[in-house]
Amino acid sequence: MIEFRLNGQRIEVEVDPAERLLDLLRYRLDLTGTKEGCAEGECGACTVYMDGLPVDSCLVPAYQAEGREITTIEALDRDRLGPFLETGATQCGACTPGVVMTGTWVRDRPELLETHDLRELMAGNLCRCTGYDGIIEGVEAALSTPAVDSHDPAALPQPPAPLALAGVRGAGSVLRPGSVDDALAMLGQFPDAVPIAGGTDLMVHWPGHFEAHARTYVDLTRIESLREHRWTDEQLIIGALTTYWDLIQDERVRREFPLLEHAARQVGAVQIQTRGTWAGNIANASPAADGVPVLMAYDAVVDLQSSRGTETISLDDFYLGYKQMRLAADQLIVGIRVPRRAYDVAWFDKVGSRAAQAITKIGVAVTRQAASGEDRWRVVANSAAPTVCRCASVEHLLQANTPVDSPEALMEALGKDVTPIDDIRSTRAYRQSVLARLIYFGLRDRVEFVS
Ligand SMILES: Cc1cc2nc3c(=O)[nH]c(=O)nc-3n(C[C@H](O)[C@H](O)[C@H](O)COP(=O)(O)OP(=O)(O)OC[C@H]3O[C@@H](n4cnc5c(N)ncnc54)[C@H](O)[C@@H]3O)c2cc1C
Ligand code: FES
Ligand code: FES
Repeated sequence: MIEFRLNGQRIEVEVDPAERLLDLLRYRLDLTGTKEGCAEGECGACTVYMDGLPVDSCLVPAYQAEGREITTIEALDRDRLGPFLETGATQCGACTPGVVMTGTWVRDRPELLETHDLRELMAGNLCRCTGYDGIIEGVEAALSTPAVDSHDPAALPQPPAPLALAGVRGAGSVLRPGSVDDALAMLGQFPDAVPIAGGTDLMVHWPGHFEAHARTYVDLTRIESLREHRWTDEQLIIGALTTYWDLIQDERVRREFPLLEHAARQVGAVQIQTRGTWAGNIANASPAADGVPVLMAYDAVVDLQSSRGTETISLDDFYLGYKQMRLAADQLIVGIRVPRRAYDVAWFDKVGSRAAQAITKIGVAVTRQAASGEDRWRVVANSAAPTVCRCASVEHLLQANTPVDSPEALMEALGKDVTPIDDIRSTRAYRQSVLARLIYFGLRDRVEFVS
C-alpha cells in the first residue's frame, strides 16, 4: 500500500512492484488524459508532474509515487487548451496532454526561458501530426495568458476509487530502504537484487520485459541523504540520486563545471533530465553515456559502499570492458566527487541523429588544466570503444604541444586510442573520422599550436 497526493488530494492505493505510474493512473484510477505512446521515454505523451517537475510516467514505477505530489492533465484548467487549439497545435490529440503539461510547466516558470529556449524545453514531446511550429506558437500564446491556480484541491473532483489489482502481473518484489545502511544490508542479503534510481534505463520498454518483472529491486529513492549535491572547498560531491536537472539548475555548476551542464542538457529531454541520475549513468556502463565523459574529463572519482566497507575508484579506472565495471553486486555508488580546479580549455561535443532524444553516435569531452604548472589534458570519447575511454595518445600529443594542422593529423594517435564499431547508427570509419574532426575543430578555436 502506498500513499501519495494526486491532483491535490491524498490517495492510498495498493500497487504491484511491476506496475508503472502510467498504468496506475490510466487503468486503475481512470485518469485517461495521460497517454501512452512509445513506452520508452521518447514521446512525452505520458508526461505528468512529480513534485512539480515533468516526468515520463511510463518510466516511473508506481511505488515511487509514495509520498510524492503527482499532477495529471485532469488537474489543469481547461482554458489552458485554448491557445493550442487556436494555433493548430493539435490534430489527432495523442500528444496534446503531454504538450500541454510541459507547456504549462514552462508557462508557470518563465525564469526557465532565461537559460533555455522553448524548443529545448519542449523537445521531450513528440508529435506525428502537426509539425512543431504550431505547438511552439501554442506554448508561446499560453505564456502570455494569465496563470490560473489549478491546484486548489477544493476545485478538483475527488480521485476515483482505485480499481483492484486484478490482472497485475509481476512475480518480483521491491525493497524500499530509508537509509544507505538498510540498502546495503538488503543488497548483501539478496545478491541478485537490482538497485533502481530514476528508472530511465531500467524501465524502458518495461511492459515487454517479463523477466525483469520477476526480479527483486532495491529502490534507492527514499534515501534522502543520497539526493543532494554539495560543495566543499576542494570538490563538488554529487549524490547517488542527484539528477541532471539538479545540476542544470545550479548556477554554480554552470559557472565552475560548464561541461556537466552541457552534457546534462543533451541527455534525452527535460522529462529524462528530471529523473535520470549521474550515478545511474555511470552504473549503466553504456559506451554511449554522456554523463561519464564529462565527469572523466574533470577527473571525477566514484565512492562505492557495501556492508563490507567503502572504496574510492577513479572513474578512469572504473570500467573493465563492455558493460563490465568494478562494482560488486553488494556495492552501491553512494557519491561522485569532482575536484574543483581551474580549466582554461573545456568543451563537450555530441553528434547524434538530432539535437535532443538522440543516442550519441560519437562524442568527446576535452579539458586542459593549465594552472598546475604543466598542461594537463584530458580527452575522453564516448561511443568510440567498448567503454567510455580516455584517448591517451591524443592527450600525449597535446601535452607536447605538437602542431596539428588537420583532423587527419590526429588519426594515427586516435587509431591507438579508440576502436569504434560498425552498427545500425554509424560505421566505424565515420565515427573515427568525426571524432578527429570534433577534436581538431574544437582545438583550432581554442589553442595556438593547432592551426
Ligand atoms: C528517452 C531516453 C533518452 C536518453 N538519453 C540519454 C542520453 O542522451 N545520454 C545518456 O547518457 N543517457 C541517456 N538516457 C539513459 C539514462 O537516462 C541515463 O543513463 C540515466 O543517467 C540513468 O539514470 P537512472 O537514475 O534513471 O538509472 P536507473 O535506470 O535507475 O538505473 C540504471 C542502472 O544503474 C544502476 N544503478 C542506479 N543507481 C545506482 C547506484 N547508486 N549504485 C549502483 N548501481 C546503480 C541500476 O541498477 C541500473 O543497472 C536516455 C534514456 C531515455 C529513456
Ligand atoms: S509513453 Fe512515450 S514517453 Fe512515455
Ligand atoms: S496531434 Fe497527433 S501526435 Fe500530435
